[in-house]
Amino acid sequence: MTGDRVREISSPTNPLIKDIRALHMRKARAETGLFVAEGARTVREALDHGVVPEMLAYRADQRDQPAVAGVRKAAGDAGALLLEVSAGVLEKISQRDNPQSVIGVFRQRVRKLSELDPAKSQVWLALEGVKDPGNLGTCVRTADAVGAGGVILIGNTCDPFSPEAVRATMGSIFAVPLYAADTAEAVAFVRGWPGTCVGTALQTDTDYRTVAYSAPTLIVNGTEQSGLGPEIRAACGKLVRLPMRGRADSLNLSVAAGIMLYAVWHRLEGSAR
Ligand SMILES: C[S@@+](CC[C@H](N)C(=O)[O-])C[C@H]1O[C@@H](n2cnc3c(N)ncnc32)[C@H](O)[C@@H]1O
Repeated sequence: MTGDRVREISSPTNPLIKDIRALHMRKARAETGLFVAEGARTVREALDHGVVPEMLAYRADQRDQPAVAGVRKAAGDAGALLLEVSAGVLEKISQRDNPQSVIGVFRQRVRKLSELDPAKSQVWLALEGVKDPGNLGTCVRTADAVGAGGVILIGNTCDPFSPEAVRATMGSIFAVPLYAADTAEAVAFVRGWPGTCVGTALQTDTDYRTVAYSAPTLIVNGTEQSGLGPEIRAACGKLVRLPMRGRADSLNLSVAAGIMLYAVWHRLEGSAR
């Protein structure tokens, strides 16, 4: 590690610190293409997936703690700018009341649908107009858990790189490729999907357990408030409903996505045996 890639910073008004703090705002994230992920475990997850932070800030007085020292060395060796900061400075750039000892600044990556190869995985997830960052992050985490090929964000969604969304992914933001498309592009893409494309909706009587899924299966979920829009709904080959016995009028979006991801994964694995 070369010394000129390490800066000691004790002032919260340092310009680099101000730039990192600004990444809490969507506008700054959009302008810079950067985002923040907190915690040594999350940064380790990134490095394990070959994603190197542009900058890594850590508490100077904790630099030799094993978890901090490990990511500090790996990130520094891979070319990250290391910021050795005071506890007060780390508190300023953290979103949490109880700040982590490590904060990474990473470059955002969202792919186009033209880069997506459906054959790369048996199961894929698409979310139309997801608005809640916790839901988006949980969906990415669950998609990772079943080995989904990626998550497609359709239309106007919340920012997958907001601190809330990133935190909810628990590191899976670095493992699961994200794709983005407007509604017209997504409709054409869904129509050309080579396997099963299944929309989840309340407005159907088809029980999700009765469908014969074929690989690759694309699961499409609607927005929290109004569900699937008419264009995407019409483009999906099938619509399914998760039956509900009690009085709830719908499931939480990420719960519905999780049930579908597991059901499709198990069904396709079972049929491959
Ligand atoms: C909170 S729900 C949206 C409810 C909305 N009022 C509607 O009419 O669809 C968010 C998304 O989760 C999925 N979802 C929730 N409950 C579901 C269920 N019981 N069956 C199928 N999909 C469900 C659908 O993709 C839905 O668009």
